[in-house]
Amino acid sequence: MKRILLVLTVLLAKSLLLSQAVTYNNFYPGKIWKDNNGVAINAHGGGFLYFEGTYYWFGEHKIAGPAGNRAMVGVHVYSSKDLYNWNDRGIALHVSDDPNSEIVKGCVIERPKVVYNKKTNKFVMWFHLELKGKGYSAARAAVATADNVTGPYIYLRSYRPNAYKWPVNATASDTMEAAGGDSTLLKLPGEERAEAGYFLRRDYPKGQMARDLTIFQDGDKAFLIYSSEENYTMNIAELSEDYTSFTGKWCRLLIGGHNEAPAMFKYEGKYYLITSGCTGWAPNAARSAVAASILGPWKSLGNPCVGPDNALTFHSQSTYVLKVQGKKNAFIFIADRWHPQNPIDGRYIWLPIQFNNEGKIVIKWKDEWNLNFFNKN
Ligand code: GAL
Repeated sequence: MKRILLVLTVLLAKSLLLSQAVTYNNFYPGKIWKDNNGVAINAHGGGFLYFEGTYYWFGEHKIAGPAGNRAMVGVHVYSSKDLYNWNDRGIALHVSDDPNSEIVKGCVIERPKVVYNKKTNKFVMWFHLELKGKGYSAARAAVATADNVTGPYIYLRSYRPNAYKWPVNATASDTMEAAGGDSTLLKLPGEERAEAGYFLRRDYPKGQMARDLTIFQDGDKAFLIYSSEENYTMNIAELSEDYTSFTGKWCRLLIGGHNEAPAMFKYEGKYYLITSGCTGWAPNAARSAVAASILGPWKSLGNPCVGPDNALTFHSQSTYVLKVQGKKNAFIFIADRWHPQNPIDGRYIWLPIQFNNEGKIVIKWKDEWNLNFFNKN
């Protein structure tokens, strides 16, 4: 009898839990978004992959309280067929218990992005890594691979990219010390030091810094886009054929412009980049840029957000632009509304991307919307 009661109680508890699961037909930017178990989706700084008819959402698994800004668990993955309803697929990349591992529990793992490599048949995850107890000084791009899309991802290594490689758009003066020595540049503001090539030359022997990052796959090639030079300059670096290292072909863009949170997509043959300014977890105005070739030259297009709160990107910061399958010119701007005091409560802002007559990106706030929005395209 006792056993039957126990089984009944468990079944009741399970059905109560399941009844909290919601079926969504719309996006509700900034509202709590529950997974198939009725639990708030925990995948911040997200990256997306469409593979064999399913979307996968990878993101930072955060915990409650300020400690949640560090990686205590790893990278969480969810899957969905329709982009509204997401199934919890567990932890794709686990932090390590080994104190000698670069991804030991308590390090910083941010903005995981995954691409699939056809040649090696591997899923390749890149993320921004900061070593435990070292603040944000390591500034490394790290890579892990898996045989299955949901993992387990095996950690490979981290980089300061492109040591001893000049960018394709280096000028003669970029590669030469300033008259009187580079130390004379120290009195200049950071922006001007970046423009004078100071950080580029300083980091030439050890590799360039890499913080906020994203990947963009263009045909068979993939590129890592990251904040470098103390966050003053963005870099775009071509990845090796297997996507786990660099070819040495790279460019600097938005030099001295202080950009982070990159998100890239391709529309009508042109490359578009959305970034934020650098104010940590606090929101600021987004920026956008366009280029005919991924390694530049890049042209700034200004703040793509319009309407109330556009100067704060609707209280969020870009992380990804998702191409909707089966719809023409359908792209979703995906951003994080961070809650650094209680990071697990960070919210997701998904908004449709529009284009104006001049080919500029336009993003407008919506309390509620769905993919039918794109049917008019
Ligand atoms: C943000 C960045 C986040 C995180 C945070 C730390 O600007 O985009 O990914 O690094 O700073 O303060």
